[in-house]
Amino acid sequence: MESIRKEFALDQPTFKAIVDGFKSEYAMGLNTASASGLATMIPSYVTALPTGDEKGTYLALDLGGSTLRVCAVELRQAKRSNVKVTELKRHIAPNDPLRTSGAVAFFDWIVDAIDELLTMISAAASSTSEPLSLGVCWSFPIDQTSISTGKILRMGKGFTIDGIEGLDLFTLFQEAFERKGLRVQVRALLNDTVGTLVAHAYTNPSTRIGFIYGTGVNAAYPEKVSRIVKLQQQQKAHTQPSQQMMLVNTEIDIFGSEDYLPLNRYDKMLDAQHSQPKFQLYEKMMSGGCMGELVRLAALDLIDKNLLFNGYRPQEFAIPMEFDTSVLSLIESFMNETLEVRLQHFNPLFHFTEAYVPSENDLRLLTDLCQIVSNRAARLAAAAVASLIEQQQEDLLGPRTDQKPIVIGVNGSTYEKYPTMHDRIHQALTEWFGEEIGQRIQLEVATDGGSIGGALIAMLAEKEEKMMNDLGALSS
Ligand code: BGC
Repeated sequence: MESIRKEFALDQPTFKAIVDGFKSEYAMGLNTASASGLATMIPSYVTALPTGDEKGTYLALDLGGSTLRVCAVELRQAKRSNVKVTELKRHIAPNDPLRTSGAVAFFDWIVDAIDELLTMISAAASSTSEPLSLGVCWSFPIDQTSISTGKILRMGKGFTIDGIEGLDLFTLFQEAFERKGLRVQVRALLNDTVGTLVAHAYTNPSTRIGFIYGTGVNAAYPEKVSRIVKLQQQQKAHTQPSQQMMLVNTEIDIFGSEDYLPLNRYDKMLDAQHSQPKFQLYEKMMSGGCMGELVRLAALDLIDKNLLFNGYRPQEFAIPMEFDTSVLSLIESFMNETLEVRLQHFNPLFHFTEAYVPSENDLRLLTDLCQIVSNRAARLAAAAVASLIEQQQEDLLGPRTDQKPIVIGVNGSTYEKYPTMHDRIHQALTEWFGEEIGQRIQLEVATDGGSIGGALIAMLAEKEEKMMNDLGALSS
């Protein structure tokens, strides 16, 4: 057990190496023009935040690892509480054939959901003569080339749609709308981190980081346009000089090399047996999608040495990647109960083909494993947040920023549901920055990134496009 503890230990010098490693990846990503295959530091082309005065109905679509959500968002007045959201959800099972279908079948399926939503809100939709604007929250890497266009990169999260890589997401949607005869216009493509940042900034204007910590992991932050060298090279014509900041999708999930990430033998085993080896190394060390697997692999080691479950393998450990992180979360949530209650909760979680009932010692060992893995995960999440705070050094840590809160909008089941995850991340940040700055750091649960965030960005994009058209008309 002690050797497993050592494998997962993440001390301060290692934490520093990770923060420094991330910062050099930011610099490299901002300066690298090409995004063939993989891309990090992706400009979002979102350069403004909503004022709160906006009105109208906007559509938002949110595709994640296991759910498609489509929403109609009616912005009614200045206050967020006056937003009306009508939504429709579709679950995508891990073995759903859609995940490996072709692009046409996949996009038709998505657009069918929008069609159904439009029927639900038919009154609002028919009252407008213009197509409804849609913000597409795409929780996968894309090489964005404008606010509404971008090339699809490798998807992850169990999707391997045939021939989709390199295609333009805007075009795929518009073609599907045409096939189905829908009057909808994609106005903006956004990553879930960008949606989270915008939606949370709408609630709390001090928000400076959008962080996703669920099945996947990623972060967005506002970067000075002058530092986005690749944007200046590629898109000089499209960027207005007055636009000082642009939200950047870091795709930090993809970051990582052994130069600074402390990959241990379980991380390497997980990666080697994964459907996408060598991809998303950082994410695999700490995401909700992988923590269960890391515990499973370490537990199998103990079982093989007869140290756990008397050497018997529970059925729950039979298949790689199928031991769910929610079980870890459950085990940690009852760890302060009396032994009797803990055993009552614990025993039904594991089933053996042989007549074996887990013992108190099994419970203790497995709880320890969960904590060892989740403590490291919390510190890895904190290292990402710390590096993003430092990346905004001047604005957040400079001499004129005293006492101002540093707000991070965080979305995702691992952060929201895993016991004490918030406290552990915050504590690691306080250890890194010291008490004074630690007190200014506020990690807040951010919801609605894919719904209200998507709709707000579609609205901002539509506004900007109209303004540009008006300017064009004036000067011609
Ligand atoms: C994806 C990111 C996404 C993150 C959080 C990662 O696996 O590559 O684009 O933002 O998950 O959902």
